[in-house]
Amino acid sequence: MVKPVKRAGKVSGGPRKREATKSAPNSMSSKGKAADASSQRVEVVSMRNAQPADDRLLELSLRPTRLAEYIGQSHVKENLRIFMKAALNRREALDHVLLTGPPGLGKTTLANIIAKEMNAYLHSTAGPAIEIAGDLVAQMTNLEAGDVLFIDEVHRLNPAIEEKLYPAMEDYEFDLMMGQGAAARSYKYKLEKFTLVGATTRPGLLTAPLRGRFGIVFHLDFYPAQDLEIICKRSAEILGVEIDDKGAREIAERSRGTPRIVNRLLRRVRDYATVEYDGRITWEVAKNSLDRMNVDTYGLDEMDQKLLRTIIENFKGGPVGLGTISASIHEERDSIEEIIEPYLIQIGLLVRTPRGRKVTPKAIKHFKDKLSDPGPAPGNLELFDSQ
Ligand SMILES: Nc1ncnc2c1ncn2[C@@H]1O[C@H](COP(=O)(O)OP(=O)(O)OP(=O)(O)O)[C@@H](O)[C@H]1O
Ligand SMILES: [Mg+2]
Repeated sequence: MVKPVKRAGKVSGGPRKREATKSAPNSMSSKGKAADASSQRVEVVSMRNAQPADDRLLELSLRPTRLAEYIGQSHVKENLRIFMKAALNRREALDHVLLTGPPGLGKTTLANIIAKEMNAYLHSTAGPAIEIAGDLVAQMTNLEAGDVLFIDEVHRLNPAIEEKLYPAMEDYEFDLMMGQGAAARSYKYKLEKFTLVGATTRPGLLTAPLRGRFGIVFHLDFYPAQDLEIICKRSAEILGVEIDDKGAREIAERSRGTPRIVNRLLRRVRDYATVEYDGRITWEVAKNSLDRMNVDTYGLDEMDQKLLRTIIENFKGGPVGLGTISASIHEERDSIEEIIEPYLIQIGLLVRTPRGRKVTPKAIKHFKDKLSDPGPAPGNLELFDSQ
């Protein structure tokens, strides 16, 4: 059995208090390299949360670092608190954790919090960044007992690499082939007991064997407006901007159930508040600023609008099958199901029926003034009478 040489400066034994976050050298740079046609479409969906570099830096300063600061998702928080406390009491590594949910809901934030609360070191990488088994060995052999290895976009791991993860997750062992042909040798690395935290926006693309190896699985849901209002006020306080309840509520309601969008809109409204008002964010300031930025009153983004408009304009409000919608708006079925639809269903603009998707009267009303074709004629409105 070969035990790899550990990194210099290793601290062995006892609880460690390390704050820094380390990323794989190529974790982001090679993101697009191996992208195939389907993963490029995934990128398009995740672009809905794309933001400028200065915003990304600000986002880091707004990111909660302790579980107590993490707002909402009470089911996830409560369970995680118990699992972490139990693992700490037993002086064991936390079981492997899978975090699923649409972009911007707090998966990376939770991964950071887990490492911090477990007094562990966080190693960060992403599925597409691990191109060859050697990349994974480099990550794995650097892990010390209790460390957290965070793999973002875990559904995009290369299948051959994914298979290498199975024994690592289950038995803390890693097999590596060295050399070729008759000279090829298999080496077994013994790993420290670590915690793998995987995050994905596309749980439907995870293979069953990988999913089954995570002992803890949490799905993050879109946040209700009252939680986003608290997040908005918390972020305003960190940014040093004064905001009243109604101002925070207006921003929260237009943020598509997503903390990242709350923070982004808050920063833009702050710009209007300082340049055109007295710096305070009231309801009037928030509403006027968001209207001028053409932010939808329900926070709908381009893809949401495209989907709803297509059903209204081309399919008389539905019902229409998922496959047909997918072909009409050029978006993959599972990204429609996992990323676009959940929010539209949650706010009551769309329903799933056995015969397909239907928009609700609320959606028709919302688009009434914006549509070239006003949608179902009054005679078709019985489509909606089950609502
Ligand atoms: N529960 C929360 N409480 C307060 N702020 C939050 C919470 N969740 C997320 N945020 C804020 O939203 C931002 C985006 O969250 P994060 O980067 O963790 O999302 P994500 O789920 O990893 O998104 P992606 O799928 O795009 O990687 C964070 O920087 C943080 O400021
Ligand atoms: Mg993330």
